[in-house]
Amino acid sequence: KKLAVFVSGGGSNFRKIHEGCSDGSVNGDVVLLVTNKKDCGGAEYARSNGIPVLVFPKAKREPFDGLSPSELVDVLRKYGVDFVLLAGYLKLIPVELVQAFPKRILNIHPALLPAFGGKGLYGIRVHKAVLESGARYSGPTIHFVDEEYDTGRILAQSAVRVIANDTPEELAKKVLHEEHKLYVEVVAAICEERIKWREDGVPLIQSKE
Ligand code: GRF
Repeated sequence: KKLAVFVSGGGSNFRKIHEGCSDGSVNGDVVLLVTNKKDCGGAEYARSNGIPVLVFPKAKREPFDGLSPSELVDVLRKYGVDFVLLAGYLKLIPVELVQAFPKRILNIHPALLPAFGGKGLYGIRVHKAVLESGARYSGPTIHFVDEEYDTGRILAQSAVRVIANDTPEELAKKVLHEEHKLYVEVVAAICEERIKWREDGVPLIQSKE
């Protein structure tokens, strides 16, 4: 399957997915990297690995270099993209894109949705909110993307224990470590078409065999 990854930052999840494609654990190819920050770590990694980089900074409104949301969709189609993976992409995805790729856009969020999500809750703020709440577990959520922040159908989660002396930074590090494992597993599953949609609209991952 052909994958487009969207990043705004360091791109460690993107890197793990790309490595999974290279070592055969994911039956896919990253054909395009889209970013709103042209010099972020993820974009640098893409350039040094020969992956085309498209800069699309204000996804919803402003065209960049003449590129509108529907032209972004055209570019993704030109590359034959099967799935769009948001990996630390901090802008809302244009509605044209959501509609053009139904059930084909995933996002990773660093907490257990539906708690601790939504506009403004990203980065270290998420982990602060988790610690302030007194929750005993956190962990990544991978969900399908709809037209809002963090509200699409949940596909996969994994749990990380919150311990007494965790700082937001320590919790972020533990969750990020789980993100890397979970995202690669989930991308492997979508590339192998192992997602089953239950009648009520809940997506489930089928195990291999
Ligand atoms: C991750 O914690 C992800 O859940 C969040 O942003 C971070 C991105 O990290 N949305 P990286 O750019 O993949 O290193």
